[in-house]
Amino acid sequence: IDDEHRAEEIYRDIIRLAPDHLPSLNNLAYLTHKKAEIKSARQLYEKILEIDPGHVSADFMRAALSGETRTHSPDSYIEEVFDEFAGHYEQSLTAKLGYDLPSSLYDFYAQHLPDHKPEHVLDLGCGTGLVGEKFSTLCRSMTGVDISGNMLEAAHHKNLYNSLHKAEIIDYLDKCPGASYGLVISADVLPYLGSLEELFKKVLSVLADGGHFLFSVEDHPDDVLNPVLQQSGRFAHSKKYVRKVTGQAGWQMIAMTTLDLRKERNDWIQGSIYLMCPHPVS
Ligand SMILES: C[S@@+](CC[C@H](N)C(=O)[O-])C[C@H]1O[C@@H](n2cnc3c(N)ncnc32)[C@H](O)[C@@H]1O
Repeated sequence: IDDEHRAEEIYRDIIRLAPDHLPSLNNLAYLTHKKAEIKSARQLYEKILEIDPGHVSADFMRAALSGETRTHSPDSYIEEVFDEFAGHYEQSLTAKLGYDLPSSLYDFYAQHLPDHKPEHVLDLGCGTGLVGEKFSTLCRSMTGVDISGNMLEAAHHKNLYNSLHKAEIIDYLDKCPGASYGLVISADVLPYLGSLEELFKKVLSVLADGGHFLFSVEDHPDDVLNPVLQQSGRFAHSKKYVRKVTGQAGWQMIAMTTLDLRKERNDWIQGSIYLMCPHPVS
């Protein structure tokens, strides 16, 4: 916190001397947003957009702070955020924010499908490889996909994945050769995707016979039938929306549970994990 306070002072000093200095404005907006000073953060994002109307991440964050509707996060924004985050991702998430979703997914899978040992597992949005740490001993091969080169670099050093691909998830699924995965996992990634219609259709096409999809979402408490962009810049998905889009794409739910995902400031973020299989064709 001291470092962030000091950083904030430095950015303010720079902006006093050079009011249009975009990196300082952007960093100050991020720190202000992190402290939940919503009005000031929004004004800073607006200032950035006055100077550079094409600034993708400022436009997205301004929308998030203004309650605007969006259907997707911009790819360049996600890549930038996680490239920046990669060096301290595990320390921040697991040590400070209580993130243990990969273990919860593993226990949930083992509870509902005991003795299942998928041959090939696809980890969509693999990040630094925390899912690989849990699932790699269960299968013969693990493939990881992520848009952030720095997150993938950390995953690479763990030596758990047989192949790692730097790609946007939907693009990767589009180019994926054939149906071969016995299990597709996506841990804490759908909140960054927004609309899930495409995802659920495409994952079906890469699944081997008898395969499953195991994923998490951040819950939206109401019965809204669309993804909701939150002030955090992540999307929340209601149970009703997940049921609707998975049903339309041809999925059948095996099990679902609700849990605390991780802390944000002092509160736990509520989420759900789902285990699904293709609906049997009658
Ligand atoms: C919160 S991290 C979760 C990482 C990992 N699954 C875990 O449980 O630790 C979200 C990851 O999803 C990736 N990601 C988000 N949207 C993506 C997209 N559209 N295509 C590829 N990767 C994406 C990010 O780069 C990031 O590494």
